[in-house]
Amino acid sequence: MSAGARHERLLEAARETRGFMPDEEGLALALVAERSTLAGFSSVVEVGSYCGRSTLYLASGIARALSLGAASAVVFSVDHHHGSEENQAGFEHHDDTLVNRETGRMDTLPLFRRAVEKAGAEDLVIAVVGDSPTIAARWKADAGLVFIDGGHGEAPAWADYRGWAPHVCEGGWLAIHDVFADPADGGRPPFEIYKRALSSGEFEEEPGAQTGSLRVLRRRSGSASRSSPHGSDPSTNS
Ligand SMILES: C[S@@+](CC[C@H](N)C(=O)[O-])C[C@H]1O[C@@H](n2cnc3c(N)ncnc32)[C@H](O)[C@@H]1O
Repeated sequence: MSAGARHERLLEAARETRGFMPDEEGLALALVAERSTLAGFSSVVEVGSYCGRSTLYLASGIARALSLGAASAVVFSVDHHHGSEENQAGFEHHDDTLVNRETGRMDTLPLFRRAVEKAGAEDLVIAVVGDSPTIAARWKADAGLVFIDGGHGEAPAWADYRGWAPHVCEGGWLAIHDVFADPADGGRPPFEIYKRALSSGEFEEEPGAQTGSLRVLRRRSGSASRSSPHGSDPSTNS
């Protein structure tokens, strides 16, 4: 690892960590975390830690803000660490080396912990281990940035949107990964929740922040956080 500034070392660590975050999108994500921390928000929430790759991009953004004089901030990274449906055996994004041989289940928590420890980021990253909607329903702290990259199926994506979007502070950011306008490029649910966030009137596009499949929205002033996002969605109709 290089002897550069801390945020650069964290970027390097992110790039060396297993995961699904392309570098260009990770850099864009780090920039939003930096802006959130510089704006004075003390919490970032990430849904979908996996092995810690996107987490370390977020930590890098916080570290850069701290180097510029911002007050402290941390990433709460939420994951049950047993993988999404698309990570299970037989699916496209399965990695057999992540299966615990004793239980037969996916377990990314040891790799996540090791990645954060190896990067020297334990002061910036807090693992929150469990089911995302269950945690969201009981979560009390608002966040300057919520990054949604959990399960990409219809039910989990909508549950993450409904559970976590209300925790974005006024003036804070909501980032969503794997948003594809063209169904040929990827699944619909992340695109659908992104469209719903916009049509709710509570969020607007953050100019210049859209990179690859990463979409970044900002909560409009005057739209209260922790209210349910408006409108119905597929998972509430069932
Ligand atoms: C696409 S991966 C996250 C990738 C990661 N952000 C990266 O940069 O590599 C999605 C993660 O969401 C987690 N996940 C899926 N459904 C969940 C749920 N209901 N509660 C908690 N975590 C969940 C999975 O365990 C998986 O690690």
